[in-house]
Amino acid sequence: MEWLVSAAKKNMDTFKDKTRDQLEKEGKLKPKPGAPIVTASQAAGQPAPSISSGPQPREEIAHIFDQVKDLNMQQGVQVQKIESAPDVEAQLEPHNTTPESTEVSIEVEEPVAQAQVSQTQTAPEVADVPTITASKKDTLGTVITTPEGPSVGGFSFVINSKVSRGQFVGVKTEEGLLIALISNIFKTNKYFENAGMVQEFSKDASMFAAFPVKEWEYTLAACKALGVFTPNGIERVSFPPAPGHEVVEVDSETLNKFLGLDQDKGIDLGMVQQHNLKARFNMTKMIQKHLAILAISGAGKSYTTAVLLEELLSRTIEVGRVAIFMIDNHGEYVSLEKEPLFDGQVKVYNVPEIKINISHMSARSFAALLPQMSSVQVRVLSRVIAAIRQKFKGGESYGLDDLTSAIDTDEKMTAVTKDALKGWLQELITMDLFAKADNPVPETLLEQGKMIIFNLNEEMSLQKKQLIVDYFSRRLFDLRRQKLCPPYLEVIEEAHNFCPEKTKQEFAISRKIIETLAREGRKFYANLCLISQRPVQLSTTALSQCNTQIIMRVTNPYDLDHIKRSAEAISGGTMDIISGLRVGEALVIGEAAKYPTFIKVRKRKTSESHGKSLETYAQEFEKEKGEPVAEGREFI
Ligand SMILES: Nc1ncnc2c1ncn2[C@@H]1O[C@H](COP(=O)(O)OP(=O)(O)OP(=O)(O)O)[C@@H](O)[C@H]1O
Ligand SMILES: [Mg+2]
Repeated sequence: MEWLVSAAKKNMDTFKDKTRDQLEKEGKLKPKPGAPIVTASQAAGQPAPSISSGPQPREEIAHIFDQVKDLNMQQGVQVQKIESAPDVEAQLEPHNTTPESTEVSIEVEEPVAQAQVSQTQTAPEVADVPTITASKKDTLGTVITTPEGPSVGGFSFVINSKVSRGQFVGVKTEEGLLIALISNIFKTNKYFENAGMVQEFSKDASMFAAFPVKEWEYTLAACKALGVFTPNGIERVSFPPAPGHEVVEVDSETLNKFLGLDQDKGIDLGMVQQHNLKARFNMTKMIQKHLAILAISGAGKSYTTAVLLEELLSRTIEVGRVAIFMIDNHGEYVSLEKEPLFDGQVKVYNVPEIKINISHMSARSFAALLPQMSSVQVRVLSRVIAAIRQKFKGGESYGLDDLTSAIDTDEKMTAVTKDALKGWLQELITMDLFAKADNPVPETLLEQGKMIIFNLNEEMSLQKKQLIVDYFSRRLFDLRRQKLCPPYLEVIEEAHNFCPEKTKQEFAISRKIIETLAREGRKFYANLCLISQRPVQLSTTALSQCNTQIIMRVTNPYDLDHIKRSAEAISGGTMDIISGLRVGEALVIGEAAKYPTFIKVRKRKTSESHGKSLETYAQEFEKEKGEPVAEGREFI
């Protein structure tokens, strides 16, 4: 390292303020082989500075720096050599090939060769494949060689136009038009590759003062190759793009075809990010194999759900519509009932009016509620229920009181069992949930094009909420299996509360039915939409059955990991983008889109339930309460 730095410094002193012509005459610099020097700025499309007019210390020092660097490589590592792709080799000018000598000159720097190749390169014509006729100004950049690629998995390119993470780009390859997603954007600079060199220069002089480092700074985009349009349709990538290939924009029509969107009848969630293309997803693909909406609190899950509901409620008979059953844990959707846009289409039920018909409860359902019951007690209760059902078989319903007196009058039961069962039934009576008839009645609850909201906002008992979800989900799914209710979408807000991954049975009453719906619902057109801010706490069985996932901002590493494991389509680069998403931005993966698609969720057509700021709410609350009970100083 020492010798390298001192050599560079010595050369700098020798060449300082001398022109290339003078240096060539003095025999201190190797004459150019003919081709003009092309700098980074030139490679990026800017005019090259004339190097033979006037002193060019910076240019020359860069040249020397590289010669010294190459000497270093020759001694220690290897001589850098351009690996030209076989198909473009013939088009290279003779002076662009790498000299075998160790004095590699700047004229044959890799990016230059690539830039020139890209100008002369013509991609092979492929029949029936979208053709993108990019003029030079439409070109986003040029594919380069990196240690990782280009490969069939991805490539990097030098950017010469504005691009963003999450944007789709195209490259014409032998197979057809390859579509890739920009997963990262980063900078590179040859001068800062060698840690020892940078360290040495930082001791006495800045690299910026000594070398034209700015000119060698490149912005690169790393891309994940997704698929390729071939004459046989969209296929996996089996040929990587070659270094030097031009990267172009993908037009909306091509992208629409590539992502498999449904612009005629699809659910309009907003716009595909960085593209002028509506994010309209086919309804079957989006919800039939279940949907999960995942993100941290405040990222826009409920907002996006409201957009989805607006779309579903606006559908006509002609395009097919479903009924919606919404479990609204925080009363975020109740305002839709008053929304003029959906007049008469939305009905809200609050917890006090929701009732479960006790005569529909089996001994097993009681056991799920009361895990303290022993198996003997469950068997005894089962016998009592069978007897009471015989008594009321005319179609009349019985209540908790009837069940209690049936236990009282049972002659085979021991006094201890009687007391235990009656005690537990008393607990259920205090829940104020059971009655002689269901309300609402599941058989007539759902209608296509309409939404039922169960507002659980004011209920404190998680067990009671789960019981409601369990009972009505079960009844509706039974009805659907018998085709006695319309096809429906069950939307569950805060799904981790109703379908938790790990918890005691008494706090997971509704988990079983939700997992059953997730596994079997699709075949019966009973579809699920699970919304959660804690994916890691959500049942893996249920989540892994959600074939479409709308993922908004997620930052918790455990949640990110859980999502990654449940969605194979997500690559590491895409995961990075998820933690940097802004409010209202989402990644759609799975059935709904053939490839991971970043979208910007559109504005709601309806108003939000919770729109007040903390300041306004605090003021209103204090006014309602009247005078403050005591001034703060009274407590001091
Ligand atoms: N697409 C969007 N366009 C405009 N504003 C949005 C969008 N998405 C979300 N917002 C804003 O962000 C706020 C928070 O969104 P939202 O209530 O949907 O978050 P959330 O993910 O459901 O949070 P939580 O987990 O706490 O329920 C909304 O009140 C809304 O004002
Ligand atoms: Mg929410």
